[in-house]
Amino acid sequence: MALSTVSALAFSVFLVVHNDRFQPFEAAVGFAVFGYFFTCMLIPRLAPMFVKRGLFGKDMSKVGKPVTPETIGVIPAVCYLFLMILFIPFMYVRYYYNQSDNSVALSEPASLFPNGKLSSFLSGMLCLESMILLGMMDDLFDIRWRHKFFLPAIAAIPLLVIYYVDFGVTSVLIPNFIRNSFHIAGTAVDLGIFYYLYMGAVAIFCPNSVNILAGINGLEVGQTVVIAALLILNDLTYLFMGDIASAAYSVHLYSCSMLIPFMGVALALLRFNWYPARVFVGDTWCYFSGMVFAVVGISGHFAKTLMLFFVPQIFNFIYSAPQLFGLVPCPRHRLPHFNAKDGLMYNSWTEYTRETPLKPVMAAVFPILERLKLIRLVRNPQGRITKSSNMTLINLVIIWFGPKREDVLCEIILLLQFLVGFVMLALRHTVIPILFGFDNSWNMLQRFYM
Ligand code: UD1
Ligand code: MG
Repeated sequence: MALSTVSALAFSVFLVVHNDRFQPFEAAVGFAVFGYFFTCMLIPRLAPMFVKRGLFGKDMSKVGKPVTPETIGVIPAVCYLFLMILFIPFMYVRYYYNQSDNSVALSEPASLFPNGKLSSFLSGMLCLESMILLGMMDDLFDIRWRHKFFLPAIAAIPLLVIYYVDFGVTSVLIPNFIRNSFHIAGTAVDLGIFYYLYMGAVAIFCPNSVNILAGINGLEVGQTVVIAALLILNDLTYLFMGDIASAAYSVHLYSCSMLIPFMGVALALLRFNWYPARVFVGDTWCYFSGMVFAVVGISGHFAKTLMLFFVPQIFNFIYSAPQLFGLVPCPRHRLPHFNAKDGLMYNSWTEYTRETPLKPVMAAVFPILERLKLIRLVRNPQGRITKSSNMTLINLVIIWFGPKREDVLCEIILLLQFLVGFVMLALRHTVIPILFGFDNSWNMLQRFYM
């Protein structure tokens, strides 16, 4: 084992063990370092066994389409679950110490997690286990998407029940300018059951949206690394600028305690999935990682803010909707086309034939999208549309920026994800509080905890 690995592992053990008062933040960093190296050690050892068991795919964007181990995302996912189980004492035992140690109790009450909050944590873990199971089933049996689409909402039921019992806030704030324009008396509107439906929709959306922004090396896991980094940045703004005694501090410490170890295992997976990919992550990773974000957003009470970091995924979903909902034929794979002659990725096409004709409504919409540079069309000499580019963000980036090598294409999309998310983060902490009059999460949480 290399010296750097040994010293990193020693550092992680130090962070976790020196911690006589069970500090969650240091322990999270320690577990992330440990998770990274452990996952890096396991993937190359276990990947050949996946191929032996038939779990492999063909890398469509390489010469000769080499066989590549698939479903490897299950390794970091299971590592994460075990790390989080080991993490439980660091999150919840400290509160017990706090009861008998007044000096700690008075100085930092909000940095502790009361034992009662363990139910929220465990419901999150249960939810993630269900998603790993669903992902594995999908990788093994290729479940049709209309059959698996709603399952994440069922997996999220324990989480929603805990939200109902523990927190129960279902009102959303009305921006100042709307209240003033329409002379509305209250500051918030209660959505009741619709807020639970919204959270169920978040649980469905996050895993599926990661799975459909896919098809080039590094993108499935890369997007989850960027989203996790943005969420951790959001948490750190509360931890560094917020009041240590506030409820928001506690909630965001909880969120980053979940996300930092996730980051460790995700970076390890990215190392092996980055171009040229040595492994494929499989649907297991897409469902699991998407659900990690839904769990953190729902149990951290920021399910609305969470969506600010999913803007590219929301765009990709809306843009894909005609293909997802059958208005436009949807081939099994919509990933871009690899041209072996120049080694670049070109947009892929949906072709219209007698059996799969272009629907009249889309024949009317497509020319408008073409003018807006949102689609590429091919017409026959009679002017009839014979092909249209597949409607994914990846193909659109190729239409905008031209053919690219696979890794450059992935870098452009990840950069886009980071920049859009960063702008959203800045707006979240500047313009949005001004529009709403006061900080939403801060106030509601204060009501809940105090
Ligand atoms: C989703 C997309 C599909 C896309 C596929 C790529 C929708 C509705 N579905 O389907 O259009 O083609 O993801 O993952 O948008 N692969 C590569 N290189 C990669 C990653 C994947 O060649 O970097 C290929 C491999 O053959 C691999 C297969 O894609 O075996 C995995 O596809 P899978 O995840 O099963 O597809 P879906 O999630 O069903
Ligand atoms: Mg997939």
